[in-house]
Amino acid sequence: MPTVRLHDLEFEPYISEAEVLAAVDRVAAEIEAHYADKRPLFIGVLNGAFAFAAELMKRLTIDCEITFVKVASYHGTSSTGTVTDLIGFNERIEGRHVVVLEDIVDTGNTIVHILELLKERHPASVRVASLLFKPEAYKKDVTIDHVALSIPNYFVVGMGLDHDGLGRNLRGIHRLIQNPQ
Ligand code: IMP
Ligand code: MG
Repeated sequence: MPTVRLHDLEFEPYISEAEVLAAVDRVAAEIEAHYADKRPLFIGVLNGAFAFAAELMKRLTIDCEITFVKVASYHGTSSTGTVTDLIGFNERIEGRHVVVLEDIVDTGNTIVHILELLKERHPASVRVASLLFKPEAYKKDVTIDHVALSIPNYFVVGMGLDHDGLGRNLRGIHRLIQNPQ
C-alpha cells in the first residue's frame, strides 16, 4: 500500500476502511440499544467528526437528530490542551439526551471541556462516542462511553482526522512514519 505525504510528513496505511466501518457498525448497534425511544441529539465536533458522524447516522434506525459544534484546540501533531468556547452553538439541549461525537480522544482535554460547557445547558444526559481513542494518552476520569477503535499513541490521519488541514479525505486510518527513509 502506498504511503501518503501531507505537508512535511509521511503516513502509512494503518487501519483499513473496512475495519473502521465494521467498528462503526458495532458502535451504532450499542447506541441503538441504549437510545431507543430517547430521540438522542448527536453533537458532532467539527471539523474532524464529520466523517464518523455521517457513517454513524447512516447506520441508525431510531429517531435521532444531529447538529455540529466547532472548537479550536489542536495545532500540528501534539495537543495544546486549550479549548476556547463552543463557537456559534445556539442549540437548545435542555432535557435532551445528548451524544457528543468526536473523531479522536487523545489527552481528553478537549472532550472534558466540551462536556463541561454542554452540562451548563442542562441536558437530560450526555455521553461520548469517539471514532478513535488513545488510552495511553488519556489523562481524565470521564468515561468515553462508545469507542470504535482504541489505538496506541500514534499520530493518525484519515476518515476526518487531519495533519494541518490535510488528510481528512483519506479512506481508512493512516499513521505517521516516525523516521522515513
Ligand atoms: P485532546 O484534547 O488531547 O483529547 O485532543 C483532541 C483533539 O486533538 C481531537 O479532536 C483531534 O482534533 C486532535 N487529535 C488528537 N490526536 C490526533 C491525531 O492522532 N491525529 C489528528 N488529530 C488528533
Ligand atoms: Mg477534533
